[in-house]
Amino acid sequence: MASVRLDDIRRAYGQTSVLRGVSLSISDGEFLTLLGPSGCGKSTLLRILAGLEVQDAGSVAIGGQAVDGLRPKRRDVAMVFQSYALYPHMTVAATMALPLRMRRLSALQRVPLLGRLLPGTAGTIDAIDAEVARTAKSLGIGHLLARKPGQLSGGQRQRVAVGRAMVRHPAVFLMDEPLSNLDAKLRVQMRTEIKELHKRLGTTFVYVTHDQAEAMTLSDRVAVMLDGELLQVAPPQQIYADPDDRRVAEFIGSPKINMLDGVVRERGLIDVAGSTLAIEADALAGTQLTLGIRPEAFHLADHGGPGAFTGVVRMIEHMGSDLFVHLDLAGVDQPLIARLLAERAPDIGAGQTLHLGVRPDRALLFTCAGRRLRRSASPSGASVTPIREGVR
Ligand SMILES: Nc1ncnc2c1ncn2[C@@H]1O[C@H](COP(=O)(O)OP(=O)(O)O)[C@@H](O)[C@H]1O
Ligand SMILES: [Mg+2]
Repeated sequence: MASVRLDDIRRAYGQTSVLRGVSLSISDGEFLTLLGPSGCGKSTLLRILAGLEVQDAGSVAIGGQAVDGLRPKRRDVAMVFQSYALYPHMTVAATMALPLRMRRLSALQRVPLLGRLLPGTAGTIDAIDAEVARTAKSLGIGHLLARKPGQLSGGQRQRVAVGRAMVRHPAVFLMDEPLSNLDAKLRVQMRTEIKELHKRLGTTFVYVTHDQAEAMTLSDRVAVMLDGELLQVAPPQQIYADPDDRRVAEFIGSPKINMLDGVVRERGLIDVAGSTLAIEADALAGTQLTLGIRPEAFHLADHGGPGAFTGVVRMIEHMGSDLFVHLDLAGVDQPLIARLLAERAPDIGAGQTLHLGVRPDRALLFTCAGRRLRRSASPSGASVTPIREGVR
């Protein structure tokens, strides 16, 4: 087990800067996920951590030791790739045993048939086989040891790739989108298994994905990455509810957070999309800002006016227990998307005029440059109109 520390890692391919100074400390035993859209530099960073690629600047430490000069083998990390990278001609047993044979047997001992005659070889091979069998059993692939990759399903191949990493007992597991080749149902199941694996092993995991659901469900902390930079590193709930940056707020959450332009009218009041919200912003009157409001932060209101938005329903998406209401507001290009409990909003239809209240403390403020504007709590702590609290 080991902590990991990345210090100002930089990497460019030709003129293109792929990593622009990434610093990150990961605790011993932590499950940290690098989350970001395709092409933002996640794999490059993971490969640098593994020693498969060399950074232009910055340093990597594992377990408190700088490993910059060390080859991948010497770093005590094991990587699971998206493609699994299994050898087609090797059985599951041979695939999983390979890293152990390379480590515990000499080149001579690995010679087929002959090697077995050398002193100690048979015992070591037996120990390796036993360990492989034990690991395979723990992953539910004990009955597949004699098969080759072509005879395995996607999920089984994925388990073999994990098993091959596990037998090495690495100090750090690195996983690069290990579930992205699986179908949706299996992905959810394997997500649970990876979480359990982490709990069982207690090893540091660095996990890469572009899938926010994976990042949110698996991680102790999520590092949100965009264009070669880390925007925020925090526990999942904080990334969702308390983003530091507009781009983080917009990347996380489905449906996407609503972004509305507003302007500070006076202390404690912000004009936004035909309404006025009682929000204590740390900004002067006349300051332009952006309000981010998550779809679930809205509730049905009896009437418009301050504290509520009034618009015309463009369409309704029925999701079972929830409804997504798309509401056109005068003067706003994008419809507002609100998530309401279906049982509380049974007879809403397209074309209808609707009022949606929002609690001021659920609106996130961002500067025009996209940085989060934290604010002091509103003195009253409540919105200015009587709205049906708690009804959404
Ligand atoms: N060997 C390479 N040569 C040139 N460009 C590369 C190379 N590897 C990655 N890139 C580029 O670096 C960027 C980041 O790639 P990558 O780290 O694979 O992103 P991610 O894993 O987040 O999708 C991409 O624009 C990619 O095209
Ligand atoms: Mg990648």
